Amino acid sequence: MGKTRVTSALLDWYDVHAREMPWRVMPADRKAGVRPDPYTVWLSEVMLQQTTVAAVRDYHRKFTAMWPNVVVLAEAEDADVMAAWAGLGYYARARNLLKCARAVVAEHDGAFPQTYDELITLPGIGPYTAAAISAIAFDEPSTVLDGNVERVMARLYNDETPLPAAKPVFMGYAEQHTSANRPGDYAQAVMDLGATICTPKNPACGICPLREPCDARSAGTQLELPKKTPKKPKPTRYGTAYIARRADGAWLVETRPDKGLLGGMLGWPTTDWGDDPAPFAPIEADWTTLNETARHTFTHFHLILTVQVARLPQNAAPTRGHFSAVDTFDHTALPTVMQKAYTIANATLRTV
Ligand code: ADE
Repeated sequence: MGKTRVTSALLDWYDVHAREMPWRVMPADRKAGVRPDPYTVWLSEVMLQQTTVAAVRDYHRKFTAMWPNVVVLAEAEDADVMAAWAGLGYYARARNLLKCARAVVAEHDGAFPQTYDELITLPGIGPYTAAAISAIAFDEPSTVLDGNVERVMARLYNDETPLPAAKPVFMGYAEQHTSANRPGDYAQAVMDLGATICTPKNPACGICPLREPCDARSAGTQLELPKKTPKKPKPTRYGTAYIARRADGAWLVETRPDKGLLGGMLGWPTTDWGDDPAPFAPIEADWTTLNETARHTFTHFHLILTVQVARLPQNAAPTRGHFSAVDTFDHTALPTVMQKAYTIANATLRTV
């Protein structure tokens, strides 16, 4: 079929195989004139950066239940939004989510702007998200390029240019196929294809709607694409988390500064994270070092946290952090690495 019918083949496939998502208007309804809610589209696209659809579903449900529209979200307490985001990772996204909601209310009367150029001026909205929202929520002819689309384009054109240098090249291919009539469905179709058929390791070429025009399939190179420039290995950083419980069961926690990793999140007081950070206990106590460490991989490094635990008297006055009462403390409001440290410490500190 050549490359001229890629768009219609994708859209025909999407009409039958679109994945159901809580925030998605399915193609038949979209054709009948139903429009997606820009608020839920924005929320889903911010959540989906660096995260899978499966991981996002429950968070999206929780957020739309707690904050059903952008005006309500803009009025939320920062700490409540950060707690609801806990476990999703990349916490700058949550801080920017709130900033963006407040900007939409303050500068746009609570209505999301429609165009790429306006959307990209908002906090936390980069090229991908601006394209996704303008296409999916408003049917503007913007082209999305995420990891799925990159893989589909690399294979369709059997292009060996390595990522990330190849991004503009792959964007050029994706733009050529963007549908003028159904840009929102096209964006979702090509991402769904990448997520379900044109997968990294096991592409289902036999049932792919693009099997005929796909140059990688003709050449048999699909498993080698996209090529990637090797990344630098991640260094390992070390630190110590100090987990203490007062006589009444309250936990000593602290809100991390807004800037920096896990910014704005609740956590345990820790040393700096580095090669060999200086010990720093938030309070003098009879600290015990546990055998098990809390390990977590961030974007640019691995972290190994030693866990120290202590019991504190009721009149304890720590230099850092605050006490969270036993009946309100919720370990699921902690970021994942802090939850791992909690699980290790709790084996020792469980009983009050
Ligand atoms: N991945 C990120 N956003 C998506 C969307 N709107 N549809 C399918 N996959 C996605």
